[in-house]
Amino acid sequence: MRSLSQFLASDVSSASLQEVLLVTTQTCIEISSALKKGSLAGILGMAGNENVQGEEQKKLDVISNNMLKSALLASPTVRAIASEEEDDIVPASTDGEYLIAFDPLDGSSNIDINSMVGTIFSIYHQVGSEPATEADFLQPGKNQVAAGYVLYGPSTMLVFSTGHGVHMFTLDVEQGEFILTRENVKVDTETQEFAINMSNQRFWSEAMQNYVNDLVAGKDGSRGKNFNMRWVAAMVGDVHRILCRGGIFIYPWDSKDPNKAGKLRLMYEANPMGMLLEQAGGKAFTHTDRILDIQPDGIHQRVAVVLGAANEVDKCLSY
Ligand code: AHG
Ligand code: MN
Ligand code: MN
Repeated sequence: MRSLSQFLASDVSSASLQEVLLVTTQTCIEISSALKKGSLAGILGMAGNENVQGEEQKKLDVISNNMLKSALLASPTVRAIASEEEDDIVPASTDGEYLIAFDPLDGSSNIDINSMVGTIFSIYHQVGSEPATEADFLQPGKNQVAAGYVLYGPSTMLVFSTGHGVHMFTLDVEQGEFILTRENVKVDTETQEFAINMSNQRFWSEAMQNYVNDLVAGKDGSRGKNFNMRWVAAMVGDVHRILCRGGIFIYPWDSKDPNKAGKLRLMYEANPMGMLLEQAGGKAFTHTDRILDIQPDGIHQRVAVVLGAANEVDKCLSY
């Protein structure tokens, strides 16, 4: 049984990257304890503000953001952070070598129903000179030096990659430590399970409607096999399911959005999950392009996402 610190010491050569990963994941253990207290700690419900994307913040969006922000900015390895809950990047007072983008609480609509949520993170090398600016963050996802998430479910799990496979850890609550429980996770190229919010169907492109109609037609349609559907309403939960037992996850663009971008954010949702999927042998695309190749134009940029089993992603894109 290897602990996270033992794993990092043997498998991650850079001491400063070990440090960033430890600070991030240690803070997620604290977020996990806060979540476990739920209503008892008075942390559920709305915060009464909106984030830069016009979404109402929950108290826990704000609490988890503040916890990650203060822990990361205090680390000498961090140059700056970007968060779903911060309008602009926040530079640290150090000349650390890493930029960290994160979604402090993914799936926050699940909070009030005591269902799955998570924290997603994406780590880059600082490339510009001081002080860090937003432009430093605007690197394609293929530049990520590490990416991952912590899923707060029945057990708390850490899943990440530093470009050498995807590894899963389970929180040992008594010891307050993540323990390696699955190494080198791989996603099957084929699947019979899909995840999409069907209530948006009428707003999708014609091609996406045709693709999903064929999935739903099952054995009676052109695909000749039945598909099951699952929707956690937290990307982190849907991606975790795909890493565990395969599948395809889609958040398409739709006609409600004049920019033809989807709902999910490139820098702290699509890129980190895209890296994990590719590292596990799957694929991550928009309707047309590899997500990790996209040159970002803003830290809160949105993209359509089609990720999961390689052959199923190809099939979807072929429509
Ligand atoms: P967040 O809570 O960080 O704003 O993200 C929620 C996202 C994502 O996690 C999930 O896949 C999607 O929103 C769910 O969208 P629907 O409301 O369409 O189900
Ligand atoms: Mn999110
Ligand atoms: Mn969030």
